[in-house]
Amino acid sequence: MRLLNSFLRSLHEPVYARRLAVLSDLVVQELRSGDRVLDVGCGSGRLGQALLRHPDRPESLIVHGMETQRRPDCAVPVTIYDGASLPFEEGAFDVVIVADVLHHASDPNHLLEECCRVSRRLVLVKDHKIDGWLAQWRLCLLDWAANAPYDVPCRYRYATLAEWREVFESLPVHVKSELVSMRLYPAGWNWFFGRRLQYFAVLEVL
Ligand SMILES: C[S@@+](CC[C@H](N)C(=O)[O-])C[C@H]1O[C@@H](n2cnc3c(N)ncnc32)[C@H](O)[C@@H]1O
Repeated sequence: MRLLNSFLRSLHEPVYARRLAVLSDLVVQELRSGDRVLDVGCGSGRLGQALLRHPDRPESLIVHGMETQRRPDCAVPVTIYDGASLPFEEGAFDVVIVADVLHHASDPNHLLEECCRVSRRLVLVKDHKIDGWLAQWRLCLLDWAANAPYDVPCRYRYATLAEWREVFESLPVHVKSELVSMRLYPAGWNWFFGRRLQYFAVLEVL
């Protein structure tokens, strides 16, 4: 098992590095000077770190992470919580990021409601999307391979584009923009795990 985990980690690292570069390019475009950013389900904190080091970052950015699992090496300051209610006032942050977290949450709709409640301006959702041949199976394989080495439990439940849009309609948000296909990974990987399986939405809080 240890051998399998270290093999999966070594495969994951270059794929994750490319994902970080693509995601941080997308997120940084939405940030403004002095923004307070909450990264819900920040994991290792490397996305927050990539934003803080990005050449196009605005000035005086603050990034704070929320997690259900403590990781000893988290790259940004992090608060551990129960995974249900975010312990912050309404509009406590300018921007909330929830990147590949909702499909891990026991109640994703409630978590997204919480993200909207504590954000003053934007909620940035990166997640998966069921779209295309054997999409559910390809996503299960991707999710397992990416999360097993880090002991992150997977629920193997993913939404379609129509389901994402239906959830957003039930929230006090306006969909400012969305990407329904993403070249998130290195070239060969996108063919099987990228493109229409990947989804990114910029939600404006009303
Ligand atoms: C696939 S990782 C994504 C990590 C990070 N967002 C990134 O983009 O690299 C999913 C993370 O979500 C966390 N998580 C799962 N359920 C959560 C919840 N209800 N609230 C916050 N984090 C949660 C897991 O502990 C895990 O670190």
